[in-house]
Amino acid sequence: MSLFGNDISPVAMDVEFQTKDRLRFKIYDPNSQRFEVPLKIEAPSTAAAETNYDIEFINNSSFQFKIIRKSTGTVLWETSLEDLIFSKQYLQITTTVPSTSVYGFGEHEHPSFKHNMNFVSYGMFARDEPPATFANLYGVHPFYMCIESDSNTHGILFLNANAQDVTLSPNPSLTFRTIGGILDFYVFLGPTPENVIQQYTEAIGRPHFPAYWSLGFQLSRYGYGSIDVLKETVNRMQQYDIPYDVQHGDIDYMDRHLDFTYDKENYAGLPEYIQQLKKDGMHYVIILDPFLTKDEAPGTYRPYELGQEMGIWVNNSDGLTPAVGKAWPPGDSVFPDYTNPRTADWWIQMCVEFKNVLDYDGIWIDMNEPANFGTGQLPGCAPNDLNNPPYVPRILDYSLAQKTLCPDSKTYLGDHYNTHSLFGWSETAPTFIAVQEATKKRAFVLSRSTFVGSGKHAGHWLGDNFSLWKDMHMSIIGMLEFNLFGIPYIGADICGFNLDTTYELCLRWMQLGSFYPFSRNHNAIGNKEQDPAVFGVEFAEISRSTLLIRYTLLPYLYTLFFDSHVHGNTVVRGLMHEFTSDRQTHGIDKAFLWGPALMIAPVLQEGARSVDVYFPEASWFDYYTGDEVPISWHRKYGSIDAPLDKIPLFLRGGYILPTQAPATTTTVSRLNPFGLIIALDKQGEASGSLFWDDGDSIDTIENEVYFLAKYTFSEGQLRTKIVKNGYRGVDSLIYNTIQVLGLTSRPYAIIVNGKVICGEDLQYQANGKLTLQISIPITQELNIILQ
Ligand code: GLC
Repeated sequence: MSLFGNDISPVAMDVEFQTKDRLRFKIYDPNSQRFEVPLKIEAPSTAAAETNYDIEFINNSSFQFKIIRKSTGTVLWETSLEDLIFSKQYLQITTTVPSTSVYGFGEHEHPSFKHNMNFVSYGMFARDEPPATFANLYGVHPFYMCIESDSNTHGILFLNANAQDVTLSPNPSLTFRTIGGILDFYVFLGPTPENVIQQYTEAIGRPHFPAYWSLGFQLSRYGYGSIDVLKETVNRMQQYDIPYDVQHGDIDYMDRHLDFTYDKENYAGLPEYIQQLKKDGMHYVIILDPFLTKDEAPGTYRPYELGQEMGIWVNNSDGLTPAVGKAWPPGDSVFPDYTNPRTADWWIQMCVEFKNVLDYDGIWIDMNEPANFGTGQLPGCAPNDLNNPPYVPRILDYSLAQKTLCPDSKTYLGDHYNTHSLFGWSETAPTFIAVQEATKKRAFVLSRSTFVGSGKHAGHWLGDNFSLWKDMHMSIIGMLEFNLFGIPYIGADICGFNLDTTYELCLRWMQLGSFYPFSRNHNAIGNKEQDPAVFGVEFAEISRSTLLIRYTLLPYLYTLFFDSHVHGNTVVRGLMHEFTSDRQTHGIDKAFLWGPALMIAPVLQEGARSVDVYFPEASWFDYYTGDEVPISWHRKYGSIDAPLDKIPLFLRGGYILPTQAPATTTTVSRLNPFGLIIALDKQGEASGSLFWDDGDSIDTIENEVYFLAKYTFSEGQLRTKIVKNGYRGVDSLIYNTIQVLGLTSRPYAIIVNGKVICGEDLQYQANGKLTLQISIPITQELNIILQ
């Protein structure tokens, strides 16, 4: 009899050799069906013939189960099944891990990317909570990655949606405790960190492919209060020519916070204004919340009335009467149960119809933990086993009902007790479909609550952070983690959401945020304005120049997203992804990489005018000057100047990055000439690629209406191979600026597609940087010979 009683016996264990690199083991009750996460992970019907792992059962007194990496003998998982607890509302399993380089688990604000393993516990249960260390936040991701002592890396998913916690101990080991479902684990063998994430996203769903415009800079705030203030903000952004693609409408665009309405007084003329923004090449995103007031006068609020008619709300424990709580709208609210297919129909219909009112381009789904302002619905939660389980994981206030609904509420897929943390996840796919149907374009969905697999349909922002220097650093950790979770379209509220920001903090944050995949400045109601145009000319110019770098590099970022969508790569990654065998990189979380090739080392301290940057073994070039970082700094920290107007950026030798002349919107920049930055490694070699399509059509990859070029540079020659030439929109586009970094001497002749280049079109600097001006259609295979 275990601690909390109601033990289940016998339990069964299945082990599936799903693929060469993926193993599943599942411990469950063979006599009664318990809740299982409704995420489909495709597995071949026959066991993999060859595997990179072995399993071992040792029938000694503690009955051990081990998972071993065949090539090295490293034990990735070792559990004593005798210590396993499998009871009705308490399941516990402990395993050793082969090293302390452990990353992942979410959603939390972790103080470091590489975990502290000194008896640290993290609870996981979706909650509407501003980020704070140890708090369980908006989403649930029971996934971790571990770098073994020889740098091989594996990842493990605990596919369970119930309230749970994990304890990281110095043995090193991990203890998982959950209060429902089954013990369902997936092991991914890597062996590189990128391979782990590719295998993980192959299982849970590849990240969606974002529209090109959504890689532009975005502006938002809660509480513009009126369309006039919004217009003033937009105008000053445009006056300063700050790159700016997307404007968001937070809940104050709505009539009294009612979904599918807009405030015809304070936002009179909003539909026309959205058209104006679109004429300026911009896009507009609206927020929607997952609660509808039930207290409007009969016959006046159709979204509620139709939902009521269709019977689509989360119900009380009787399974019949809707759960009634309190949220933003006036009166009391009901909550759509998105696990019910009928709810999806209703939601899609509402969203598509609303497109005729506000011509939105994307939907931001908020408060979907789901958030409720009370503890449980009205009149509170009855005392029973679901509402008061014998063990409550280490979640805030040890409460399953606080700020949400009672666990014994009923959803289509079962008790809210089981489905709570799936609420946002189940809202995401229907919203994605709705946006696609409404816009007939690639969907933009931004979700606050996420679960395993959400990246397939949505991006995420890190929630209601604070305008504090510490939060800037935390945002890098969060961004790196969400890349592990298969949600690479990620960013934090630039300049901070809660609290008033300051000039310097906001400026440094604009610099860092210019390198978030999802780059949005967002602010809470009542705080002083913090858009990059409000602080005067110096601030605006610095923000502009940093964002222009982002826009210059967008073809590279977009190509990374293509790779992520097709192969499951991360977009933003820690240095340890690329330099895994250099253990000094394991703990780095103040600098990060875009793909393999661009290092971003932001200033994260007030008053600092330099940054200590670690340079792993590689050729590194200063982005601004092309100067090579001295070899004596390799595997060491170097102090890099970072005056207020500069964020340190470094290009890694061995890579070719596609660029494009920037503009103030991507609508305009997409018509500009392309360029290449060719950063050579020690062998004088480099490679890279460019993916291009119309940027917002659905399924361009599947329909093969895209352009893909691969570049290689070696022995003084750039060669281009056009792998796919299926998008006619490239026909009018050209290459113009080509930069080569890391040359050892000035070439005496340069031949571009058979023509000698000379004079002003060629510039060579003593630091080995060559800049060429050319004009070659990108549909031609660019060939450059340096002699
Ligand atoms: C939540 C969101 C925040 C939003 C606010 C009002 O706090 O996290 O981004 O501004 O609600 O909608």
